[in-house]
Amino acid sequence: MSDHDDPHPAIRSAREEDLPEIHRLDNEVFTSSPYSFLVLRQHFDAHGDHLLVRYEGESLQGYVLSAVRADRLAGWVHSLAVAREQRGRGLGRQLMEEALRRLDEAGVLEARLAVEPANTPAITLYEALGFSPDGAVQQDYFGPGEERLIMSLKL
Ligand SMILES: CC(C)(COP(=O)(O)OP(=O)(O)OC[C@H]1O[C@@H](n2cnc3c(N)ncnc32)[C@H](O)[C@@H]1OP(=O)(O)O)[C@@H](O)C(=O)NCCC(=O)NCCS
Repeated sequence: MSDHDDPHPAIRSAREEDLPEIHRLDNEVFTSSPYSFLVLRQHFDAHGDHLLVRYEGESLQGYVLSAVRADRLAGWVHSLAVAREQRGRGLGRQLMEEALRRLDEAGVLEARLAVEPANTPAITLYEALGFSPDGAVQQDYFGPGEERLIMSLKL
């Protein structure tokens, strides 16, 4: 897909040279469990079209990472981050809208994600986009003590 018909033209697919900046922002935002550069690199290699960035000048404002299951029944939004000083300006919503648009365009039937039950800003955003919880909170989802709420949205 080209970036030309994109309703959010400031958001584009990540390029290899963006990886250090994405890694830096990821460490800043997810202090307790950031992606290692290795995992980030592997996601980029495997899901490049679904690793999206938004910059203001040289500064990375946010990124979103999704992945499409081979059967296209689901696409997972694995990560969404907006720099602290850029929050509350609609960037998280724009990144999610573009990620969902690309999943839909790829023929994915349902978007899914895992979110910490206490993460009110993220859950409020996901609900505003139409996501709803898929059952109860799952204990130890990402390892001991790492409970998550799974949310889904039909595309
Ligand atoms: C969640 C996150 C991406 C939202 O990004 P953002 O750019 O601030 O969000 P937006 O400005 O686009 O807000 C969109 C909607 O989200 C909700 N929202 C955003 N911040 C919120 C807050 N602090 N409290 C409650 N709702 C909030 C609102 O519904 C908002 O719509 P509104 O502006 O019409 O009220 C951002 O807070 C973030 O990076 N958090 C840390 C990383 C994280 O938790 N990622 C998600 C992991 S699952």
